[in-house]
Amino acid sequence: MTQRYANIIGWGKYVPSRVITNADLEKTLDTSDEWIFTRTGIRQRHVVSPDEYTSTMATAAAEEALESAGVRARDLGLIIVATSSPDYLTPPVSSQVQHALGAKDVGAFTLVAGCPGFVYGLATAQQFIVSDACDNVLVIGAELISRYTDWNDRATAVLFGDGAGAAVLQVGDEPSGVLSYVLGSDGSGAEHLILPGGGTVAPPSQETLDQGLHYLRMNGRQIFRFATRVLGKALHQAIQQAGLTTDDIDLFVPHQANSRIIESAARYVGLPREKVFINIEQYGNTSAASIPIAMCEALEQGRIKTGDTVAFVAFGAGLTWASAVVKLGEPSMPTPISRLRLSLPSRLFDPITRVTRTTSAGLMKALAGCLALITALRRRGAKRRKDDG
Ligand code: UT7
Repeated sequence: MTQRYANIIGWGKYVPSRVITNADLEKTLDTSDEWIFTRTGIRQRHVVSPDEYTSTMATAAAEEALESAGVRARDLGLIIVATSSPDYLTPPVSSQVQHALGAKDVGAFTLVAGCPGFVYGLATAQQFIVSDACDNVLVIGAELISRYTDWNDRATAVLFGDGAGAAVLQVGDEPSGVLSYVLGSDGSGAEHLILPGGGTVAPPSQETLDQGLHYLRMNGRQIFRFATRVLGKALHQAIQQAGLTTDDIDLFVPHQANSRIIESAARYVGLPREKVFINIEQYGNTSAASIPIAMCEALEQGRIKTGDTVAFVAFGAGLTWASAVVKLGEPSMPTPISRLRLSLPSRLFDPITRVTRTTSAGLMKALAGCLALITALRRRGAKRRKDDG
């Protein structure tokens, strides 16, 4: 069997239009634009309007990714939605997204791995593709943290934002796509980033509400220490596992949590500033959505293109971390043939695809037969000449 690779062939993002600036937060919190920007790199964050949910943002990002990949939702083999802020505890938000996309009967699951969820999703998609279980997998990172934020808590309110990003991975036979990944977890630090109420330990009650246990709580200093300890190392491991060196990385697209943490990871592996992508200034920390949103922006701005090698690294609640090295695959814009395929009903296009596939398989077989015959005849001629001589 030919080696299968998992290429990223399409990408999309959705960011709500409403913006909350640091100046807005200064009016309600004991904080300042100067403190937030110098400590984190954040100037503003995008926040949903009342009629938006994690599923609506995830669906919008996914539609853009499918369009850019030229893949129809119903041709997906699997949908993975990485999030820690689903519409409901159950049903899984992945099924709502699958339904909204019109991906009839396609398998879907929600992956909860904190901010590195999207990178965990890439690793999972790669496994499904290389093992021949699926040809097309959609991975989405979507977060709506503003509804879990205590807007009176300056330790968290200044950091997070809402948004979604998505990627379509497709099987390919060239050595590209997800080249390596590293996944890690250390549950001993669970209490440093936690939403304590609403689960089985503290089910929702008047008491949990009164204590504000339904809001995200964070010990920023501890998370900062953890991040600077694991991030550079995880990035280095992924680059090594891909058989590459830092010089081979065209762009480092890290989880956008804090520009100081990003710079420390880049320093650890010796990546120069111009090879680091940072957009935290505009979006804040969008958790599992931050890497796919950053990847889309890097592509839109021409910072990366097909054939380039990108390194991802993230850390977050769990505590967890993940890194990956990806060589970008096929063109992002739909080709004329994929546009035609997208616009035609499957009952029209699928027979054409089948006929093309059968015809080309038949031609290949005939060609192989001819080559085998020519080789046999040449061998027989050579033997006869040897016998005559
Ligand atoms: O995706 C993972 C999610 N979490 C993170 O990425 C968080 C990682 N941690 C961080 O990014 C940083 O630790 C923070 C940005 C959260 C905080 O920066 P820091 O340099 O670690 O500050 P600190 O917690 O050591 O606090 C320094 C001071 C304290 O005052 P005192 O004790 O020195 O008087 C805080 O009370 O800054 C104060 N402070 C603030 N001041 C203004 C804490 N939060 C704020 C605030 N505005 N929002």
